[in-house]
Amino acid sequence: MPSYFIWTIGCQMNKAESQQIAGHLDSAGYQVATSFSHADLVVLNTCVVRQSAENKVLGTLSLLKGLKNERPDLKILVTGCLVDSNSQELQRRFPHVDLLFKPGDYSELVAWERKQGIPVEQRLLRQPRNHVGRLPSPCALVPIVQGCDNFCSYCIVPYRRGREVSRPIREIVCEVKELAGTGIKEVTLVGQNVDSYGHDLPRHPDLAELLNELSGIDGLARIRFLTNHPKDINLKLIDAMSSLSRVCQHLELPAQSGDNDVLRAMRRDYAVEHYRELVHVIRDKIPQISLSTDIIVGFPGETEGQFEHSSSLVQEIRFDVVHVAAYSPRPGTIAWREYQDDIPAEVKKERLNRIELLETGIATEINSRLQGKEVEILVEGRKGGKWFGRTRSNKLVFFEDAGDWSGQLAVIRIDRTSPWSLRGQVKNN
Ligand code: SAH
Ligand code: SF4
Ligand code: F3S
Repeated sequence: MPSYFIWTIGCQMNKAESQQIAGHLDSAGYQVATSFSHADLVVLNTCVVRQSAENKVLGTLSLLKGLKNERPDLKILVTGCLVDSNSQELQRRFPHVDLLFKPGDYSELVAWERKQGIPVEQRLLRQPRNHVGRLPSPCALVPIVQGCDNFCSYCIVPYRRGREVSRPIREIVCEVKELAGTGIKEVTLVGQNVDSYGHDLPRHPDLAELLNELSGIDGLARIRFLTNHPKDINLKLIDAMSSLSRVCQHLELPAQSGDNDVLRAMRRDYAVEHYRELVHVIRDKIPQISLSTDIIVGFPGETEGQFEHSSSLVQEIRFDVVHVAAYSPRPGTIAWREYQDDIPAEVKKERLNRIELLETGIATEINSRLQGKEVEILVEGRKGGKWFGRTRSNKLVFFEDAGDWSGQLAVIRIDRTSPWSLRGQVKNN
């Protein structure tokens, strides 16, 4: 039986698409391999959001060049955000790649497979997105909207993933029912901006409506979604979150900066006052909410004072998680065309470290409040001899037990906390 290995970096969208590709290859009769060197077919699912991600992709591509020289039969497929509309140029640069296909566009993959004589299920030919695949975890990622219409000045995503295209509610409900039927207990709905879900569909349904529909599916215990956009998230969604018991109390709400001039240059379309007010409303309606954010440091022209506005926003809001990144100029974006990347690398690094240090203190304090408390987690798997899963507020929890907890809801009494995870003893056995 031929085998495949999928290498994935980047965001949840890429992870979701890798799950779909895995399901697709399973149904075509492929087996999962444990590494590149054991596979007959490899898929590289790439990210280019920052130069560091792109460098990892290029490094892996050159590693595979060596492997292809040794084993000319090896098939190399590349997808994800490295693949732009000029795929001929990429094909010239990487002649050892057998197929380049745009993220989420499986028609090219299926056409290539047919040419190779790989048996492809009829159903997949019609609707590859509806394929479920054999997922070992009780959690699945479900893309609901592809692409982005926002054009934040620093971001390459809209250039690589195109304009927003939402999947019809009916199709998503069908897929989630099918997933629940195979034992999936938690779905995370993914999109670059889930708040704009549905605006391009007839009747303009929105995320709140989709959550309502999904909440009625038998067997599904939890629903998550990401990423929200501070300019688009609305009260209807916040009300749906607080009233639908299966929707988890966690939001990824990227602030990007705490300074209004920087936010304007980033073309984020909101002011920091709006962000603050939003958090206030959310916490008022959903007191248990856990909040994550993204911050970019060292955006062109960012002064020490402007950086401090970001740092005070982090201090003031007290996020559960902060993902901080140093600005990386992306060719073709507005910021790359209009601004000089004038903040020295060591200043970016220093600002990044300062936010990380600040957040470590905040997360230590937030998580320590869970000491001695009982939390419910959905067990996702085992790592280093310990079971692990997440609470509804997205806290990662580890515990040791001889039983089989795979895919179960476990009640854990927390006896150790850190800024990144919690540990405890199982209570419901
Ligand atoms: N759609 C989401 C996430 C987009 S990409 C959003 O609107 O936030 C994920 C994160 O990468 C972003 O939130 C941003 O913080 C970071 N990012 C994107 N482009 C970047 C760049 N050029 N340099 C540094 N970080 C960047
Ligand atoms: Fe990029 Fe902005 Fe779209 Fe997020 S909302 S993907 S940061 S352009
Ligand atoms: Fe990366 Fe593309 Fe996601 S650039 S962050 S994989 S949308």
